[in-house]
Amino acid sequence: MRGKFVIEPLGAHDRSAFSCGAAPLDRYLRAQASQDVKRLVASCFVLVETATNTIAGYYTLAATSVPANDLPTEALKRLPRYPILPAALVGRLAVDQRFHRQGLGGALLADAALRVLKGDTTAFALIVEAKDEDAVAFYRLQGFCPFASRPMSLFLPLATANKGATEHPR
Ligand SMILES: CC(C)(COP(=O)(O)OP(=O)(O)OC[C@H]1O[C@@H](n2cnc3c(N)ncnc32)[C@H](O)[C@@H]1OP(=O)(O)O)[C@@H](O)C(=O)NCCC(=O)NCCS
Repeated sequence: MRGKFVIEPLGAHDRSAFSCGAAPLDRYLRAQASQDVKRLVASCFVLVETATNTIAGYYTLAATSVPANDLPTEALKRLPRYPILPAALVGRLAVDQRFHRQGLGGALLADAALRVLKGDTTAFALIVEAKDEDAVAFYRLQGFCPFASRPMSLFLPLATANKGATEHPR
């Protein structure tokens, strides 16, 4: 990915041709993402192919919180006993169909994890809402675990992601 793409905050990029195979996610990028950024309800980052200046993918990031009761027992063992835990929500994630299966979805999630880890506010995990079983399979491959009571919602503990980043510096 290095050199061929950059990931940057959504700005004056052309979004008209973006097509990920899920129309609501295309529409969101075209019509809603900038409004959400302006109103401070989500940040939006785009993956841009440098040679063509086209958007190859995007994700949104926002603060959220998780009731500790929703987490599996195993995850709770590594956390303090607070009833509510701070987290970061990757509310939307999409890669243009022309770029599927090249590792870009995984790269966008890694970028989201890094931004949260480097930020000034903290979050114990990244949270995602999978739209279907394919998305669940994708997120599980990226290391996400489902919540006990909500199998379409998954989380990635950032302490784990951080350890991986330290052990495998690029
Ligand atoms: C899901 C999505 C973001 C994945 O993006 P991507 O760049 O193609 O994913 P990656 O190349 O990083 O995939 C890594 C691995 O995840 C798995 N994977 C990717 N897409 C998958 C799918 N649709 N079903 C099952 N597994 C999938 C594959 O094992 C893949 O590795 P492989 O290509 O070596 O087999 C993309 O398919 C997309 O935008 N889909 C439409 C919108 C969507 O479903 N968004 C998910 C949020 S609800």
